[in-house]
Amino acid sequence: MARFLGGTLALTLLLHSSVQATTVYIVYLGANRLNHVDLASSHHLHLLSKVFTSKVDAERSMLYSYSYGFSGFSAKLNSTQAASLAKMKEVITVFKSKSLKLHTTRSWDFLGLTVDNGRHTPPPPQLAYGSDVIVGIFDTGIWPVSESFREPLETKPIPSSWKGKCVGGEDFDPSIHCNRKLIGARFYLKGFEQTYGPIDSEYRSPRDYLGHGTHTASIAVGSVVPNVSGFSGLGRGTARGGAPLARLAVFKTCWGKDREGVCTEADILAAFDDALHDGVHVISASFGFSPPLYPFFESSADIGAFHAAERGISVVFSGGNDGPDPGLVQNVAPWAISVAASTVDRSFPTRILIDGNFTLTGQSLISQDISGTLAAATTYFNGGVCKWENWLKKLATDTVILCFSTLGPVQFIEEAQAAAIRANASALIFAASPTKQLAEEVDMIPTVRVDILHGTRIRNYLAHSPRVPVVKIGPSKTVIGETTAPSVAYFSSRGPSSLSPDILKPDITAPGIGILSAWPPKTPPTLLPGDNRSIEWNFQSGTSMSCPHVAGVMALLQSAHPDWSPAAIRSSIMTTADTRDTSNDLILSGGSMKSIDPFDIGAGHINPLKAMDPGLVYNTRTEDYVLFLCNIGYTDQQVKSMILPSDSVTCLPSHSYRTNADFNYPSITIPRLRFTRTIKRTVSNVGLNKNTVYFVDIIKPAGVEVVIWPRIMVFSKRQQEHSYYVTFKPTKISSGRYAFGEIVWTDGFHRVRSPLVVFLNNGG
Ligand SMILES: *[C@@H]1O[C@H](CO)[C@@H](O)[C@H](O)[C@H]1NC(C)=O
Ligand SMILES: *[C@@H]1O[C@H](CO)[C@@H](O)[C@H](O)[C@H]1NC(C)=O
Ligand SMILES: *[C@@H]1O[C@H](CO)[C@@H](O)[C@H](O)[C@H]1NC(C)=O
Ligand SMILES: *[C@@H]1O[C@H](CO)[C@@H](O)[C@H](O)[C@H]1NC(C)=O
Ligand SMILES: *[C@@H]1O[C@H](CO)[C@@H](O)[C@H](O)[C@H]1NC(C)=O
Repeated sequence: MARFLGGTLALTLLLHSSVQATTVYIVYLGANRLNHVDLASSHHLHLLSKVFTSKVDAERSMLYSYSYGFSGFSAKLNSTQAASLAKMKEVITVFKSKSLKLHTTRSWDFLGLTVDNGRHTPPPPQLAYGSDVIVGIFDTGIWPVSESFREPLETKPIPSSWKGKCVGGEDFDPSIHCNRKLIGARFYLKGFEQTYGPIDSEYRSPRDYLGHGTHTASIAVGSVVPNVSGFSGLGRGTARGGAPLARLAVFKTCWGKDREGVCTEADILAAFDDALHDGVHVISASFGFSPPLYPFFESSADIGAFHAAERGISVVFSGGNDGPDPGLVQNVAPWAISVAASTVDRSFPTRILIDGNFTLTGQSLISQDISGTLAAATTYFNGGVCKWENWLKKLATDTVILCFSTLGPVQFIEEAQAAAIRANASALIFAASPTKQLAEEVDMIPTVRVDILHGTRIRNYLAHSPRVPVVKIGPSKTVIGETTAPSVAYFSSRGPSSLSPDILKPDITAPGIGILSAWPPKTPPTLLPGDNRSIEWNFQSGTSMSCPHVAGVMALLQSAHPDWSPAAIRSSIMTTADTRDTSNDLILSGGSMKSIDPFDIGAGHINPLKAMDPGLVYNTRTEDYVLFLCNIGYTDQQVKSMILPSDSVTCLPSHSYRTNADFNYPSITIPRLRFTRTIKRTVSNVGLNKNTVYFVDIIKPAGVEVVIWPRIMVFSKRQQEHSYYVTFKPTKISSGRYAFGEIVWTDGFHRVRSPLVVFLNNGG
């Protein structure tokens, strides 16, 4: 998504909250103990009536009663009413319904899941999996007639466990648009309309207006569609999702507003409530808020994901597009997955020929030949700063303008494009730091990205040329396999987590740059007014795109291993991830041009084939969640009401010595190492060989002694569990510095890797 439009949202929110006396609040009551929906709803109304003078007023203020997957409701309240509800004994949290923003196919071949790889090698058997798995996409809805959502030829009946439905509405007829591929479609508007007023141009139905939901759904589970491409053949190949046989259930929670996708928390929680009832197996949601983050149980997405995990449903979120500065990763709950974005080995080189004797190559998605005169930005823009407001009212007809991101600076390429369009230029050459030069999305005006070195050469040529140079550009080519990949996108949000730095986030990286996927033909590829192009496949970039890649892999894993928990699925994805690129070097971090560390990629780059057979998994038990919830400050009583079954939950009176570092997570983070500290991990044997012996290899973080006991684990049964202990001891004085390492368990066949993150702080 065009990231620079973000400012308008914050502004709109401010205006709204200042004119409204009542706001939509969410009242969260924990797990759902009443097995009857009507009972739960009347209980919610009863609670709500206590802060109103009449039951009728209470009924009128209620938006949703959440009574399937968990217990709670949303209602229009003033701050006094919200405060009184928050004081009630059974209420866990009360929070305002905030607005989230969307994070905006070659990728699957790059990940080793190839459909059309010639006659010699059959496709991997894993691709036959998935028809028994239902993936829920929380997004902007769906363009149901896209070829991506056709029934595959041999479609089995819909799984009998499915309890969801297709809800009709504007331009959406369930009897026509739903089939054995698209088996569920719902939409949630009450929270959005309460906050922003009635929708206008949007479809009042599951149909997709913005394109984002169609794109992400097609990445996760799109059916196989041969011979598709973006503009004029760029990226031609077979389009398909990660799990092309899996079923799709669409939950439209996000609505187009000023060309941005906005999703309110009241609606998101309603979608979780239904999805948990309907029987989805995997949920993919590419939205979030930029930091500061809210406490876990004051966030709909985290509450919904918590109860999903409790019911064995995997949830994956995008990590956000706020990189490359550290500490801005979003969606950091330990019961879900947070995904970073990285490149694939496809590029779109575009030739720039100046005066017939000076050639450079940039990156672009240009489909035609362009020629014109070449000019520096200073001729058309005040100070050479390529921004709309800097235009000097001089036309640049038939001219290619050279712009620098460093002047101004021009933070987003879209700003320079808007300026070039205003000047009526025929194309733009945009020079930026080498980390930012990838062609990510379709442009409104033909734009070639060059790095600052090439930009400088062009600028110097221009400055010394005795006459006006002539330039010829394009068209772009599609080149596969010649670019080293993956590298982490500069925009991908980095760790550590600002909410719980003791759990490493992001967890994993997956393709998220220049991803070609299905698109509504009525939605302009750039979303900009005046863009009349109609296409059925579009390039998009963002962690929005990497998130459904992980959802597709989770669907394959769930299908291959129906008895696996969400924690086991996450563990197998993380412990088998790659940290090296196609040149066998450590993956590069776009944004710094240096090797990655776990804050860029978590455990690494997803490897679907290896994830199918991880050998060992780190499961998460109820006791881990109890530990975590107690550690973040909830009382025994509250934790009891959040966890099902409530067992004999007690927060240890002195739990402070057991930190979240003991949470049985596949990565290990020691938040503040002052003295010697020992943590525990437990693994289960899920390999095909029940008799197996694992040995450990350690890469120690700098300045830290790491001792593991035992160093050998002998398994003789499937599902057998073993625990090991890791002792960390500082060997030097440090006053606050992160150091990284890894622990790898191997039986000669499997490699079970956990990244280590230690914050060494034993200085004065
Ligand atoms: C909040 O609403 C209640 C019930 O309608 C009302 O009695 C109360 O005066 C309101 N408080 C404020 C501060 O507006
Ligand atoms: C793919 O589509 C293009 C354009 O639509 C067509 O020219 C080409 O022959 C097709 N290739 C195959 C293998 O069907
Ligand atoms: C390019 O060719 C022109 C003549 O066509 C010549 O004047 C100019 O010096 C050449 N520039 C370079 C960099 O070779
Ligand atoms: C803008 O450029 C186009 C050619 O690209 C030209 O036909 C048109 O006349 C120009 N507009 C103005 C206002 O000069
Ligand atoms: C888009 O269509 C409108 C109206 O049909 C037209 O005025 C405009 O020039 C078109 N824009 C482009 C980029 O083709």
